[in-house]
Amino acid sequence: MLKIAIDGTAASGKGTLAKNLAQKYGFAHLDTGLLYRKVASDLIVKKKDTDNNLEYLSCKYAKEVEFSELKKEYLRSEKIAKLASLIATYPKLRKILNLKQKEFVDINLNKFGGCILDGRDIGTKILPNADFKFFIDASIEIRAKRRLLEKNISFLHENDEKCMLHALIVKMKNRDKLDRSRFEAPLVPAKDAHIIDTSLMSAEDLLLVVTKIIEGRKNIKEKNK
Ligand code: CDP
Repeated sequence: MLKIAIDGTAASGKGTLAKNLAQKYGFAHLDTGLLYRKVASDLIVKKKDTDNNLEYLSCKYAKEVEFSELKKEYLRSEKIAKLASLIATYPKLRKILNLKQKEFVDINLNKFGGCILDGRDIGTKILPNADFKFFIDASIEIRAKRRLLEKNISFLHENDEKCMLHALIVKMKNRDKLDRSRFEAPLVPAKDAHIIDTSLMSAEDLLLVVTKIIEGRKNIKEKNK
C-alpha cells in the first residue's frame, strides 16, 4: 500500500499531478487545499461577524466539512484562496483539518491500495512516513499564466489580459509568502522530497518523471524482497 505526498506552490501543477497519478494507479486522492477553501467559502457565504470571530468560526465550520462537498468548482476562486491562506495560519484549525486528512487516509488506504494527498504540509506533517514525497514548483509568471488559463476567459484586448495577469501574480506572490512564512506548518519541502521545477514541463512530462521515480524504487524494493 503506497502513500504519496505532493506539496508545492499555487498552480505549480501539483493538483494535476495528483489527479493523474491517482488515475494511473487507481489510488484515492485528496486535494487538501479544498478543505481550507471550503471553510473559507463558508465564512464568506454565511457572512457572520467574521471580523472578531474568524478563528472561532473557521474551527466551527471545519468540524462540519464533509468530503462529499469538496468537488465544487466555485471553491477555486482567488478570493476564497486568499481567505483560505489566512485561516490556514490558525493552529487550532489546522489540527481539526489534519484529523480529517488522516481520517481520509485511514478510510481509503486499504480500500484503494494507495492514497495520494496534495497540499502544503503533506510530506512534513500529514504523511511524514509517505513512501514517496514530491515538492512541485515553477516560476511565478508561468504559474499565474496557468491559473489564468484555468479561468477560461476570452479577452477583448491584450491589455486586459496583461492587467489580469499582473493582478494574479501579485495575489499569488502574497499567498505564497504567507504560506511560506507562517509559524505552523509552513510551506517547505520535506527533507526527503523530490523537488521538481515544472516551469518548462507539461503535465504529461511531469507525470512521466514522477512515474519513473515511483516505478524505479518499487522495482528495487521488489528485487530486495
Ligand atoms: O490550488 P492552490 O495551490 O492555489 O491552493 P490550494 O491547494 O487549494 O490551497 C489554498 C490555501 O490553503 C493555500 O494557499 C494554503 O494556505 C492552504 N493550505 C494549507 O495551508 N495546507 C494544505 N495542506 C493545503 C492548503
